[in-house]
Amino acid sequence: MIPELSKPSVWMRDSKRVEEIIQAMHRAGPSTLQVISDFDMTLTRFAHNGKRCPTSHNILDNSKLISEDCKNNLKELLNTYYPIEIDSTHTVEEKLPLMVEWWTKAHNLLIQQKIRKDLLAQVVKESDAMLREGYKVFFDQLHKHNIPLLIFSAGIGDVLEEVIHQNGVFHPNIRVFSNYMDFDENGILCAFKGQLIHTYNKREGALLNAGHFQELQDRHNVLLLGDSLGDLTMADGVHNVENILKIGYLNDKVEERKESYLSTYDIVLEKDETMDVPNAILNHIT
Ligand code: C5P
Ligand code: MG
Repeated sequence: MIPELSKPSVWMRDSKRVEEIIQAMHRAGPSTLQVISDFDMTLTRFAHNGKRCPTSHNILDNSKLISEDCKNNLKELLNTYYPIEIDSTHTVEEKLPLMVEWWTKAHNLLIQQKIRKDLLAQVVKESDAMLREGYKVFFDQLHKHNIPLLIFSAGIGDVLEEVIHQNGVFHPNIRVFSNYMDFDENGILCAFKGQLIHTYNKREGALLNAGHFQELQDRHNVLLLGDSLGDLTMADGVHNVENILKIGYLNDKVEERKESYLSTYDIVLEKDETMDVPNAILNHIT
C-alpha cells in the first residue's frame, strides 16, 4: 500500500493493523486528523555524517553564551542523566525524580549565565541543529491541508521555535507546548515559565492543556511521532480518539531498546534520519 513501509529501517509488530489504521484515517480524511509530535530527535536529526546533532538544550549548552566552566558542568549532567533517560532496565517511576533533577540543575545553570534574548537567533544560526530530511514536505503538507500540528517538547520552546522559523516552516497550523524562557526587563534570562516538562511527564502536560484539545475535538484521528517512550503519552489529552498511529524513531541503543519500542510504537524507524515514512503516510491520508 505504501512502499516506504518496506524500507529496511521500518519495523512493525503488526503490519496488518498499521495498514487498517491508515486506511481508516484515509477514509475519514484530513479534516479529522491532528498530528502530535515531539521535537528533539524526532523532528530534528539525531546524527549527520556520523556526528551527533544537538537538542534544543544542547544548542545553548554548546554556544558562545555559556562560559567554559558552565559548559563542563552541563556536559557532566548530560553524561550522568542521558544514559538514565534511555536506560531500558529501569522503570519510568525510577527515572522520574532523576529527570526532574537533570532539568532543574541544567535550567539553574543556564539562568546563572545571564543569557540575552536578542542573541538566541544568532546562536541557533551558528548551531549544528538540523531538521530531518524531508522536513519541508512534512510541514508544508500539514499546512496545506489545515492539519493542526502540536509540537510537544521537553526541550526549550524559544530555541525550537527559532529552529523552525529559520528553516522557513513555522506555519500558523503549529502550536507548541514546551519549556519557555522568562526574561527580565533587560532581556536577560531569569527563569523558566510554568510547569516543567521533562521526558516522562508529557501525560500531565497534555492534561494541563485540555483547552487545546477541546478546540480540536472533531479531530478524532491522531498521528503521533516520538523518539522516547515518554512521548507515547503525548496524546493523552485528546478526546474520543478513534484511530491513533504511533511512529517511534529509535535512534540510539537500538538493540537494547528495540523490543520495548516494538511493543509500544506501531511503527519503529531504526536509525532513520528522514521524514519519508510520516510523509508517505500523510500523503496517503490527504
Ligand atoms: O523535544 P524533546 O521532548 O525530545 O526534548 C527533550 C530532550 O532533550 C530529551 O530527550 C533529552 O535527552 C534532551 N535534554 C538535553 N539537555 C537537558 C535536558 C534534556 O539535551 N538539559
Ligand atoms: Mg525527543
